[in-house]
Amino acid sequence: MTVLQFPEHHSDFTIKWASLEWEIRAAQALRRDVFCHEQGLFDSSDQDDIDTHAQCIVAIANHGGWPDQVVGTVRIHQYSAGVWWGSRLAVKEGFRHRSGIGAALIRLAVGSANGLGCTQFFAQVQQQNETLFQRLHWHSRYPLQVRNHPHVMMEADLARYPACHTPYHGYALKGPLAIAPEEIAPCLLHLPQATTSQRNALHHVAQ
Ligand SMILES: CC(C)(COP(=O)(O)OP(=O)(O)OC[C@H]1O[C@@H](n2cnc3c(N)ncnc32)[C@H](O)[C@@H]1OP(=O)(O)O)[C@@H](O)C(=O)NCCC(=O)NCCS
Repeated sequence: MTVLQFPEHHSDFTIKWASLEWEIRAAQALRRDVFCHEQGLFDSSDQDDIDTHAQCIVAIANHGGWPDQVVGTVRIHQYSAGVWWGSRLAVKEGFRHRSGIGAALIRLAVGSANGLGCTQFFAQVQQQNETLFQRLHWHSRYPLQVRNHPHVMMEADLARYPACHTPYHGYALKGPLAIAPEEIAPCLLHLPQATTSQRNALHHVAQ
């Protein structure tokens, strides 16, 4: 059986509130891989009390219209009236910095909280990701240490995150250009090195 390992192999991604048991189990396994094994922030489990009332969000890679695997996750919870927090953002290695999955998870996390009356949305962001969040319209508040690792308390600019009222449907994120059907633009697909603008143009046509 072929194991699909890279974004190129998937037609699109679904970013949604987790509702099925397998989605939640897969998200927990991904969190364990990233926060325990890869980053060493926890020993054998990163689960905590927040998981008992947090909403899990997943990014699912689809193949030929079928859900294939969970490749990203984040969780949100209401901290106090109107104040929400996001945490445990993780994208599977091999799917990072390529597909916009992390940005889409953040978009649904903040947008769905916004749809529930959120007035402030915070996250303790690992310092190496501060620029990513700033580019996504978050403001840095103050530095702090979490589990002996440098973090930054950051707050989302809610005006940049329109309310999402259908979080179980979530968003669809188009897959990479490499899987566009050949009949759409055979000449462009056969170019050994299509430029970014050519790729964007084809992506637009494919939608
Ligand atoms: C941080 C993480 C979730 C980002 O997910 P991702 O899917 O790679 O991010 P995206 O592809 O959506 O990136 C969105 C944009 O930010 C950029 N970006 C991604 N990570 C970045 C970083 N650490 N610093 C600066 N820019 C970054 C991407 O290049 C992309 O730019 P573009 O829109 O110009 O193409 C992922 O790298 C990850 O899981 N890391 C390990 C766990 C972790 O650090 N969790 C976060 C705890 S706060």
